[in-house]
Amino acid sequence: MTLNEFQRQLVEGVPENIPSKKSFDLSVNHAPKRKEILTREEKKLALRNALRYFPSHQHDELAEDFLNELNTYGRIYMHRYRPEYKMHARPIHEYPGKSEQAKAIMLMIQNNLDYAVAQHPHELITYGGNGAVFQNWIQYRLTMKYLAEWSEEQTLVMYSGHPMGLFPSHKNAPRVVVTNGMMIPNYSKPDDWEKFNALGVTQYGQMTAGSYMYIGPQGIVHGTTITVLNAVRRIAKNREDIQGKLFVTAGLGGMSGAQPKAGNIAGVISVTAEVNPKAAHTRHSQGWVDEIITDLSELSKRVKKAKEQKEIVSIAYLGNVVEVWEKFHEEGVHVDLGSDQTSLHNPWAGGYYPVGLTFEEANEMMANQPEKFNTLVQESLRRHAAAVNKHTEKGTYFFDYGNAFLLEASRAGADVKGTDGNEFKYPSYIQDILGPMCFDYGFGPFRWVCASGKTEDLQKTDEIACQVLEDMMKNSPVEIQQQMADNIQWIKGAQENKLVVGSQARILYADAEGRMKIAAAFNQAIRKGEIGPVVLGRDHHDVSGTDSPYRETSNIYDGSRFTADMAIHNVIGDSFRGATWVSIHNGGGVGWGEVINGGFGMLLDGSEDANRNLHMMLHWDVNNGIARRNWARNENAIFAIKRAMEVEPKLCVTLPNFVEDETIENIVK
Ligand SMILES: NC(=O)c1ccc[n+]([C@@H]2O[C@H](COP(=O)([O-])OP(=O)(O)OC[C@H]3O[C@@H](n4cnc5c(N)ncnc54)[C@H](O)[C@@H]3O)[C@@H](O)[C@H]2O)c1
Repeated sequence: MTLNEFQRQLVEGVPENIPSKKSFDLSVNHAPKRKEILTREEKKLALRNALRYFPSHQHDELAEDFLNELNTYGRIYMHRYRPEYKMHARPIHEYPGKSEQAKAIMLMIQNNLDYAVAQHPHELITYGGNGAVFQNWIQYRLTMKYLAEWSEEQTLVMYSGHPMGLFPSHKNAPRVVVTNGMMIPNYSKPDDWEKFNALGVTQYGQMTAGSYMYIGPQGIVHGTTITVLNAVRRIAKNREDIQGKLFVTAGLGGMSGAQPKAGNIAGVISVTAEVNPKAAHTRHSQGWVDEIITDLSELSKRVKKAKEQKEIVSIAYLGNVVEVWEKFHEEGVHVDLGSDQTSLHNPWAGGYYPVGLTFEEANEMMANQPEKFNTLVQESLRRHAAAVNKHTEKGTYFFDYGNAFLLEASRAGADVKGTDGNEFKYPSYIQDILGPMCFDYGFGPFRWVCASGKTEDLQKTDEIACQVLEDMMKNSPVEIQQQMADNIQWIKGAQENKLVVGSQARILYADAEGRMKIAAAFNQAIRKGEIGPVVLGRDHHDVSGTDSPYRETSNIYDGSRFTADMAIHNVIGDSFRGATWVSIHNGGGVGWGEVINGGFGMLLDGSEDANRNLHMMLHWDVNNGIARRNWARNENAIFAIKRAMEVEPKLCVTLPNFVEDETIENIVK
């Protein structure tokens, strides 16, 4: 087959001649300069590491360029190797190669780096400020070459963006095994990431960045809608009671930008503070937030009016969130629901902007006076928590949105410590909302991508998924009816809500039965030629894939939430049950060293193999986590695993016994 220009470049790998330098493109959103962390000797090591991808006669020229990048950006991205072709998910048949599975992975990688999808596309960062697909452009090029050339009896091994190589395996083995940021536990502090990433030996894969499973803002709109909707259900008696309720939060970035949209869907007034004008204006121009206000007094006035008139409106405040909490207290504006989605998983490198500095001053200080900046972040967190506390004393329901707000605030000495055995004053959104209502029943962020790239295929898959859920709901137990109803409503409105950015992707929350039935119906439709191949996956933020004591597993109360066995079992189990690729990461969402999370991708091609794999793997992928949640004595999970055992006789899970409080209280004095 003759290759077109795109395909030729894709199989090229490391180009024979050094490409010319690329100018710094100001029209693209760039990662902040990373802090200077390497010693002189370590800089030499970073250069040696980078140059090992190239033949020695090119070293002189490249060494100078790479050192310049290291000094300018704090990392070696190898910008000159960024390809010339447009970066986006193409229809699967446009990729070169012998394996449909490999082509599906190339499609997903390109989607994660699409300029419309990725946060800092030139630095290969998909989201969250540091969620990398690769560390540099040569790793991208080499990986694509491997994927374009291999056979289905090989497995590609990825070390934090570096393709270690192809190893002989077998047809039903994963085609790619990905690890990101896996560290010896004692070397997993935030500065270890700075150092080892600058050396070029590890990367922060976030959750779906380094695992090629990001689907743009849709995933987050759905998760945030489910969360805000259920949070509102906690504070309002009925639909009418929701009217005029006020939700205050922060962040209009990659994920946080979904909050105002979710607020509108839930029917509340929302105020979202954002310090970065670019982020606020982007969300406003996309229609995700209705109004932008830059003056605090004007904000108060506007919110009072919205309350009086019981409007459903989303307002962005261009400034620091601490100011909003303080001002609303001063003005007696009652906040019903509160949270925060600043990027506190990354507090020292641009995730959290301290009150009192302008956005520019903060950016300058974090690069040039990092210690002073850290002190200001901690002061700001103390002030932030104090202002929130004043509101909660008056009845505000505040929850931590999995961004490590309570964790970092407590580390800063803020008044957020809990009583009665609770670590913090406030629950995390998993403890109160997603854990008991979704994860314990197996409901989680199932997603798929139509690899043909056709919108008609996505529409057909939406219809198929909706039909499956409606059929299931007729016999669903009352415990999960609300989740089923929310997701049927979501999928019905999905086309109209125009949620696709990048690949033709869809997300919904489904339990194990729902995921298997939807996937099997897709596979059947592919076999009949009604739709093209489909890539299945999920967010790592799910029932089983993630051990994260302050987030996904924060509603595990038997002491095991600080273990990471479940995430490891999950990825191992997926790998021998037919996943097309698997990944396991350190870091993601709440921070480096704070979480272990994993996921998978699976190509459905209509075959009998795909049908067998999807049943086997999805069943494990969900029930593994329910079994663990059941063992932690979570009642909804006990209910769910018993139900799963009734359906599948080969599933036999150890159930916990409950101890009477008296038995313990009487002997432990
Ligand atoms: N949306 C979800 O479902 C979800 C789930 C779990 C965790 N999270 C967490 O939420 C956080 C946000 O994610 P993201 O992708 O939006 O990150 P992001 O970095 O793209 O956005 C955060 C935004 O907060 C702004 N900001 C920082 N400090 C501020 C301050 N003091 N006042 C006002 N604005 C401030 C930043 O300018 C930035 O635009 C992350 O820690 C993420 O892990 C989100």
